[in-house]
Amino acid sequence: MDTGSRIARFGVSLDRDLLERFDNYIRERNYMNRSEALRDLIRAELVRKEWEEEREVAGAITLVYEHRKRELLNKIMKTEHDYHHLIVSSQHIHLDHDNCLEIVACRGNAREIQRLANRLRAIKDVRHVSLAMSSTGKELE
Ligand code: NI
Repeated sequence: MDTGSRIARFGVSLDRDLLERFDNYIRERNYMNRSEALRDLIRAELVRKEWEEEREVAGAITLVYEHRKRELLNKIMKTEHDYHHLIVSSQHIHLDHDNCLEIVACRGNAREIQRLANRLRAIKDVRHVSLAMSSTGKELE
């Protein structure tokens, strides 16, 4: 017996219909097996909980805006400076003649990152803001 292994196995009892739906889900998402799919579902739930419990998390805010709108760049910049302690890096992409995409990588308190995303979203003429809620990875091994 491999007592040093970090891998544990356990049995799960499931309603047959639910298992069939899970197997369809696995096939649609191209998982190799149930264990892999289950690991990802557990991690996703743990990440959701990290955000809910306002822990230290990592994530990315993306913004789309038209750069020529008056005062818009100043407002975005001011807001980002207010939260500079959360921002690890940002990338600006010129989508076309008028539109810009900005990706802001964040790390810090979950609630503060959400507040930053909400403040950016509330700026007039910012056309779209999304927040990808991820994890520092520390507790997802
Ligand atoms: Ni641009």
